[in-house]
Amino acid sequence: MTSPAPLSQLIERRRPGHSLEAGFYTRDDVFRADMAAVFGRCWIYVAVEPDVPEPGDVVTVQVGDSSVLIVRDDDMQVRAFHNVCRHRGARLVSTPTATVGNLVCPYHSWTYGLDGRLLFADHMGEDFDRACRGLKPIHLRSVAGLLFVCLAEEAPADIELMAQAMTPYLAPHALPDAKIVKTVDIIEPGNWKLTMENNRECYHCSANHPELTVPLFAYGFGFSPKTLDEDERAEAARYEALVGASHSAWEANGAPSREIEHLADRVSGFRAERLPIDQAGESQTLSTRAASRKLLGTINDPKLGGLSFWTQPNGWNHFMADHIVTFSVIPIDANHTRLRTKWLVHKDAVEGQDYELQELTEVWEATNEQDSALVGLAHAGVRDPAYEPGPYSPFTEGFVEKFQQWYLARMSEALPELEAA
Ligand code: FES
Ligand SMILES: [Fe+2]
Repeated sequence: MTSPAPLSQLIERRRPGHSLEAGFYTRDDVFRADMAAVFGRCWIYVAVEPDVPEPGDVVTVQVGDSSVLIVRDDDMQVRAFHNVCRHRGARLVSTPTATVGNLVCPYHSWTYGLDGRLLFADHMGEDFDRACRGLKPIHLRSVAGLLFVCLAEEAPADIELMAQAMTPYLAPHALPDAKIVKTVDIIEPGNWKLTMENNRECYHCSANHPELTVPLFAYGFGFSPKTLDEDERAEAARYEALVGASHSAWEANGAPSREIEHLADRVSGFRAERLPIDQAGESQTLSTRAASRKLLGTINDPKLGGLSFWTQPNGWNHFMADHIVTFSVIPIDANHTRLRTKWLVHKDAVEGQDYELQELTEVWEATNEQDSALVGLAHAGVRDPAYEPGPYSPFTEGFVEKFQQWYLARMSEALPELEAA
């Protein structure tokens, strides 16, 4: 048996415009390299400010071997720490969420403040210096309420460019003033890159998403003009005109909407665009009407379309007038990926009065299940000896290619470090 090609060779021989070769999706050593080069070095989207609305609220997120503890302190600042006691290392918080006065280790009761400082440690003697035993901090950045963490010692500085560009897009939706009304975790049976690739295209939508294609316009998925007949070309042109007119109207109302795209040219890569919604035009629901009567933030017209905001390597979001759906992807192993979805409405909206949970969540709950099955099919295929990388559609899979470009750039940058390890 020949030994597998080194990662440097896999990167070098990748054919642009094609899916990756199997080893990228299936090999354990590549998975470990992904965790080090991507999830260990970049800004990772993990939570939202409404996960920790009050002082003492805690949320924990597992990223590879690291447990990240996010807490709001008494000054309302949100911070992130390694969820590891500085005494003998016990896990401080073992549940996904908690509310605490201080962070008290369950083992020998070392007690940390919400700012991470060690406050009490019994029986440690006179010479014990509490000051150098605080919790180890993790970089955390809130972008208009979306919480990103970076596990590296030095975090990529260009998150500031993303924050600067995106805050005006996100601000009207006032995410920090929203509340989470549902969280769903799906363990998808495939490699995390297949989950992300699947998200970056809607080529598969018309054949697989009967619910999502109600609010979404088919011509928003991309198309090859040559394959359209005259009527379809006229429809596509009408859609393009609607997008242009909607952008102008929304922007005149203070809601930035035009596409902004830095998927492959920055470490903290992202893309955003506000797009019209079909039929009633209000929300990604089966009725296409707002699911929550209490609109978000300063929004007063429910016809604000859907703002898609994607972040490399692991997030996407839909911001609408009435609700927000947010998705965070965390790899588990080479063959499994956790997709965490949260639905948020205005914090004063009342279930049964202002919104029905079923109406709010049914489109994306169904879509997530469908996507998870597709990721499973793709993963089964790339494990088959017959698999070879296939070509992307230039009309509908351009953003999948940008995801690969971004990913391969991160892997190339990290190669010296990975090879030395
Ligand atoms: S391990 Fe935390 S107090 Fe001992
Ligand atoms: Fe999908």
